[in-house]
Amino acid sequence: MWLEQALPELYVGYVNKYHGQLSPDIREYLMIFSREEIVHTMMFRRYLDVANLPMWSHPENIPNFSDFEKQLPHRHPVYGILWNLLIEWFAELNSIYQTQHEFIDPLTRKLFREHHMEEVRHIAFAKDIVSNYFENASSSEVDEVCEFFRNSYMSGPGRFRGFL
Ligand SMILES: [Fe+2]
Ligand SMILES: [Fe+2]
Repeated sequence: MWLEQALPELYVGYVNKYHGQLSPDIREYLMIFSREEIVHTMMFRRYLDVANLPMWSHPENIPNFSDFEKQLPHRHPVYGILWNLLIEWFAELNSIYQTQHEFIDPLTRKLFREHHMEEVRHIAFAKDIVSNYFENASSSEVDEVCEFFRNSYMSGPGRFRGFL
């Protein structure tokens, strides 16, 4: 849920910062995506209330959480979109695997399924954008992205802890 809440800020930031460089369809999609994540955030908050479940503490309280993420708004949008792709892909595989069983209550099952239908579109969009970037960017730009993720993202155990 904290991820869902952080994404609109990042994506709308890209829209404002790269306004002239983004094609109209990508710009519009980043806005639609942001709207959907805001709705998801509100939906999950209500779900926790209904289910009487506690909310995890805000990631700011978790050491090392934001060192990597803080760099993303200052980078080319493909960095944030790739970061989001890695997380959403993993998160959706996990959540759909865990929630679509007969013994899961109908509200939980339906909520995660409905959420999944929008998330698979987010994942497909991100895959498209990232593939396109990797096909068209110079080799030094591609190397820079790879290096950035290798050094910053994958290092350190428990990078995702408390986030998903
Ligand atoms: Fe979402
Ligand atoms: Fe999403």
